Amino acid sequence: MRFTHKGRCIAVYNLSGEFYATSGICTHEHAFMSEGYIDGETVECPLHQGLFNIRTGAALSPPVTKNLKTFKTKIENGQVYVLVD
Ligand code: FES
Repeated sequence: MRFTHKGRCIAVYNLSGEFYATSGICTHEHAFMSEGYIDGETVECPLHQGLFNIRTGAALSPPVTKNLKTFKTKIENGQVYVLVD
């Protein structure tokens, strides 16, 4: 899923009950990572199929060369929080 906080788009991923958050827009062009395909720890951009590691934000394959920013998450009382700096 994605949300916007103070103009910043954030994507949140649920990997078997562990939550991760990255910048919500691809570092290549304008595509929402929340609309990407997830395979294990990897998310594929919906526009040109660049791959990123969800846990680290690392760019894994062309055309993406710049990592996604990652954000810490925590769960409290059943709610997922994203620590946006
Ligand atoms: S916009 Fe994501 S790979 Fe091009």
